[in-house]
Amino acid sequence: MPSIACEVTARRELAPEIVLVSVHAPAVARAAEPGQFVFIRVGPGDAADPFLRRPMSLAGIDASAGQIDLVIRAMGRGTRALAGTEPGRTWDVIGPLGRGYPRPAQGKSLLVGGGTGAASLMPLAQSIVGGSGPQTAQTRMLMLLGARSSPELWAPGLARERGLPALFATDDGTAGHPGLVTDLLRAEVRSGQIGTVYACGPVPMLRAVQEIAVGAGVPCYISLEQRMACGVGACRGCSWPRSGGSGSGRGYVRVCRDGPVFSAKEVLL
Ligand SMILES: Cc1cc2nc3c(=O)[nH]c(=O)nc-3n(C[C@H](O)[C@H](O)[C@H](O)COP(=O)(O)OP(=O)(O)OC[C@H]3O[C@@H](n4cnc5c(N)ncnc54)[C@H](O)[C@@H]3O)c2cc1C
Ligand code: FES
Repeated sequence: MPSIACEVTARRELAPEIVLVSVHAPAVARAAEPGQFVFIRVGPGDAADPFLRRPMSLAGIDASAGQIDLVIRAMGRGTRALAGTEPGRTWDVIGPLGRGYPRPAQGKSLLVGGGTGAASLMPLAQSIVGGSGPQTAQTRMLMLLGARSSPELWAPGLARERGLPALFATDDGTAGHPGLVTDLLRAEVRSGQIGTVYACGPVPMLRAVQEIAVGAGVPCYISLEQRMACGVGACRGCSWPRSGGSGSGRGYVRVCRDGPVFSAKEVLL
């Protein structure tokens, strides 16, 4: 897939070290599905430093405006450079890449996001809710959003701006439910009528989501954020163990090409 030059059109801080970046990328926006990602060259122009592109989930897809949004946490060299990009600069982008979230089964969908993992769930939430009003929206979908502490809790604000129903939790109890976001999931699943669970976030959170959803017999899909090299299935640098079987017979999936979204029963967490 060829790379495309895309202009960064807006940038705003959502929380310390976390920014929302809007990019004019009509071809990406037209083709993108919720759960897919883009692969961005970090260095300007032909600069190959850092050498590897960085994968970023699509946090917003607006095909009619030709715009995509990304939520970037500045955690290392690559993401610090991307998060600091000023509007007017151009990025070299490949995408959309990967397999996105399958459509939900009948019943209410629960979308569980931890940290920047909530970014990849935003377009899915918007596609499930569609243009429905707040009452109907709540019967179709609920976002459950978690962070370690309230200063890092960027996602509920963005969900509110987009009219997406959400509950939230912080590990240290400084905002929302005091405790883990999976406490909220457990309570919602217990209340019944849940059609599908989707999740993206840290692996311990995904493991807990998998246990709760699979234990309750609810279809569950998770998105993995594994380090990547080629991004298109050629190098196996993003291999992740499949669940089931044992030893060498078990096999691996490639997160970039087979995922990043998998059925929770398919991968070992
Ligand atoms: C499909 C996909 C979607 C993603 N979407 C987003 C997103 O929407 N927003 C966002 O902020 N980030 C996202 N990420 C993660 C992001 O790509 C990595 O944080 C980034 O590649 C790290 O680059 P860096 O140069 O900043 O860090 P580096 O300097 O390379 O590493 C800094 C530290 O982060 C650790 N690290 C790096 N990459 C990962 C990783 N993938 N998982 C766990 N630890 C890692 C390193 O071990 C090191 O400790 C996504 C990753 C994938 C695979
Ligand atoms: S990053 Fe090369 S196969 Fe996935």
